[in-house]
Amino acid sequence: MQKFFSFLILIVTVFSCSPTEESSTPPVRTGVIADSAMVVSAHPLASEVGIQVLKSGGNAVDAAIAVQFALAVVHPAAGNIGGGGFMVIRETDGSVNSLDFREAAPLAATRTMYQEADGNVITDLSRRGHLASGVPGTVDGMVSAHIEYGKLPWQELVQPAINLAENGFILTEKEASSLRYVNEDLEDFNTILPENLLGEWQEGDTIFHPELAASLKLIRDLGRSGFYEGPTADLIVEEMARGKGLISYDDLISYRSVWRQPVRFTYRDYQVISMAPPSSGGVAIAQLLQMVESYPLGEWDRLGAETIHLLTEAERRVYADRAVHLGDPDFYLVPVRELLDSAYIARRMENFSPDRATSSDAIQAGKIYPESEQTTHFSIVDQQGNAVAVTTTLNSSYGSHVVVGGAGFFLNNEMDDFSAKPGVPNMFGLIGGEANAIAPMKRMLSSMTPTILEKDGQLFMVVGTPGGATIITSVFQTILNVIDFNMTMQQAVDFPRIHHQWQPDTIFTERGVLSAGLIRQLNNMGHLVDERGSIGRVDAIRVLENGKLEGGADPRGDDTAIGY
Ligand code: DON
Repeated sequence: MQKFFSFLILIVTVFSCSPTEESSTPPVRTGVIADSAMVVSAHPLASEVGIQVLKSGGNAVDAAIAVQFALAVVHPAAGNIGGGGFMVIRETDGSVNSLDFREAAPLAATRTMYQEADGNVITDLSRRGHLASGVPGTVDGMVSAHIEYGKLPWQELVQPAINLAENGFILTEKEASSLRYVNEDLEDFNTILPENLLGEWQEGDTIFHPELAASLKLIRDLGRSGFYEGPTADLIVEEMARGKGLISYDDLISYRSVWRQPVRFTYRDYQVISMAPPSSGGVAIAQLLQMVESYPLGEWDRLGAETIHLLTEAERRVYADRAVHLGDPDFYLVPVRELLDSAYIARRMENFSPDRATSSDAIQAGKIYPESEQTTHFSIVDQQGNAVAVTTTLNSSYGSHVVVGGAGFFLNNEMDDFSAKPGVPNMFGLIGGEANAIAPMKRMLSSMTPTILEKDGQLFMVVGTPGGATIITSVFQTILNVIDFNMTMQQAVDFPRIHHQWQPDTIFTERGVLSAGLIRQLNNMGHLVDERGSIGRVDAIRVLENGKLEGGADPRGDDTAIGY
């Protein structure tokens, strides 16, 4: 626990000032400006890989594939081949699409697999170790994306990640401290120690990933079957046998990513395109934006009680819907149309009081699990104006903490995103029920919200973030920062974040950003306020009025925007 907090302090340098009477806002910054193309990702080396693909004639989807594989090497806490994610695409002609490469529950999974005989939930089982993993979706997703949209040869997109893994690369301070932090757990959860990851890593050290390089070479040479069949499938199944996990050959061979219609809606003069279920992100961001649309937000103080109160009240209502109605649409009839109906949304806000907090119904007090949150998002615009938003994850930092013996990659702990039992919170304090109950081959509900905005039929913004339950509210606030509060892309990304998720009934704020006076004011309105470490790592791109691109990379991490 001690270690966790010192880790958090490390990653919150930007917001570590102590509270003052004045709310503290970061200085106004403009992000990287470029004429033609931009990649913003969680790691400078991954952004560089993406920009090189674009410079060699690749399109935004090619670059996204290369960045996804590069992040699996340079940012292994979240970048992955053992996890999954979502990709939202907007082509320059305005056509849109989205790819669900979310993990799926293994065939042997059961509804009560994380419960003891008396119904008690054993939370550790869905969070760490072999039973926590869903069937990985990333490799199939990248292959599908390439078949549908790729321009450059597949091999050229996987090769940069192999080079990084094989030739080694220099650790940033944040990556070194993250690896030091996970070391102890690696010893606890692995049947074969991943020797290349162990050590007292320091900034500037060079790290090599030889086994991961070998796994990536199979993917480069054989595509889908280089992962879901052959030597890598053998290594995954052997790992499962040693650690009593569930993923089988049948699971691997039957996994398929799915193209889905994105959620589309309007907010003020903007069209928004976001991820449909099994992510709750698109539905939630649509509800949130439409709940606040009739208020003159731009005339209000961005960090004033009035604004925080309105956002909180919308969030409370949306997360309550999420808990009951959202799940994998292939297994549960998600009432998307009803949830997005404007009359329904207006009704949800009918009992909103401008000066009093509505109490969240005490179904089960959720509690935020003190977990370092690690997912990763990247945004890409290519020289033709095609845009891609990808959010990808192992779930929490380093997923299950299990490295597939001999294959060098981490497996996810995405099974914790299911509702292990109605009303029992997962590691992000999120609760759920029937819609998100465990079933074989079902996808666990996600909050990932890769999102693209248009204005007047033209590309306007590409945005997304990690952060578990806070993903939706971080994307929500970033969009408001730009559209309603007129911020630059970078300023919108830098800006302090605040979060409410219905249960627990508490406003969470990044440490030190709300003044004591403002917290008192919110308390008097009936809100509980709690400070925490940084929220999210938003990586976004905005098209400026002169047609140039502004990349906003989140200073909360190593995130880097590169353009040309
Ligand atoms: O899909 C989801 O909503 C979660 N698995 C995302 C986890 C996450 O964002 C953790 N970290 N930042």
